[in-house]
Amino acid sequence: MKPLIDLPFLSHGHATLRDVEESVRFYRNFLGLDVVKTSPRTLVARLGSNTAIVGVTLGEKGLAKANRPWLKNAHFGFDFLTSDEVKEARELSLQYQENFNIQNVGEIIECDEGLSFMLLDQDGNYWEILENPEGGYSHYFEKDCDTSHALASFSGNLEDDRMSVLKPGLMSHMTCEVIDMDKSQVFYEEMFGLECVRLNASRMLGRLNSVAVIDFIETDTETRDHKMHNHIGFDVAGPEIVDAAREIIVNNQSRFGFDVIHKTSGSHGTYGFTFSDLDNNAWQIEDYPRGGYYWMFEQGGDLENKFQPNVGGIDDWHDLVDPETYEYIGMTKNSND
Ligand SMILES: [Fe+2]
Repeated sequence: MKPLIDLPFLSHGHATLRDVEESVRFYRNFLGLDVVKTSPRTLVARLGSNTAIVGVTLGEKGLAKANRPWLKNAHFGFDFLTSDEVKEARELSLQYQENFNIQNVGEIIECDEGLSFMLLDQDGNYWEILENPEGGYSHYFEKDCDTSHALASFSGNLEDDRMSVLKPGLMSHMTCEVIDMDKSQVFYEEMFGLECVRLNASRMLGRLNSVAVIDFIETDTETRDHKMHNHIGFDVAGPEIVDAAREIIVNNQSRFGFDVIHKTSGSHGTYGFTFSDLDNNAWQIEDYPRGGYYWMFEQGGDLENKFQPNVGGIDDWHDLVDPETYEYIGMTKNSND
């Protein structure tokens, strides 16, 4: 079945920050993520694939105002292959807790995949450290998916030269809570074309040409406010396709019970829009090349101009994208420098 919107790839989820420098330090030096500062107030991070975490500064006041009791259910998960590594990671977390302003290091618990524990960071974001086999949750899916964009720039066995405290192997998932899994599954499959695998009545994995998946859980959370800050995003090929996608969302608003559909705007550096669904979860569809934020990691460090490339001496990333395929070709151009 063809989904209502043709989305190529699970692009990103969000974390909210107080201070970019402090978060870069935590993400890079503690969690061991690949991090690029994309503006004075934002960063992008990844581990093992191009499905990224976009960090946006809300500041002290902004974070305090956005009371999000559900934030634990919007965590990101990082995998280790063995239970011993998870235990060791917890010991290290306790050891470095003060140094990295970690608010809480949770107890080790036994989950479906093995051992896990939860970290609560200085900004109130939750990070799960868990035992999971090679490839994360991929083994739950019957068929392979097209990971050419999810894994662009990950080919070859690069040596692990990270100096970080933890060295997890993969960001395997982001979590998203729903009210009624059956209803939400219909929406995800028909609208977004997610490949969905039900693990039990209240848990489901969703994948879109990605290595990292969305781990959906049914919860009875009472307050589901301020979810826009933690939206999940997809990329499409150009402003016209963003507009067309928005029209489809508007046309299906009553059928799927979408709450708010925002006007298009230029958040984190490109044209797109956000909308909230039947669960108050927020989604974003934006204009970015194939592989989403992957091009930002190809710029040889932090972005010198907000959300724009360092390479090629140009000031708009569209100039480094093949208009036909919407592939990022920046480095090819730059290789003549
Ligand atoms: Fe976003």
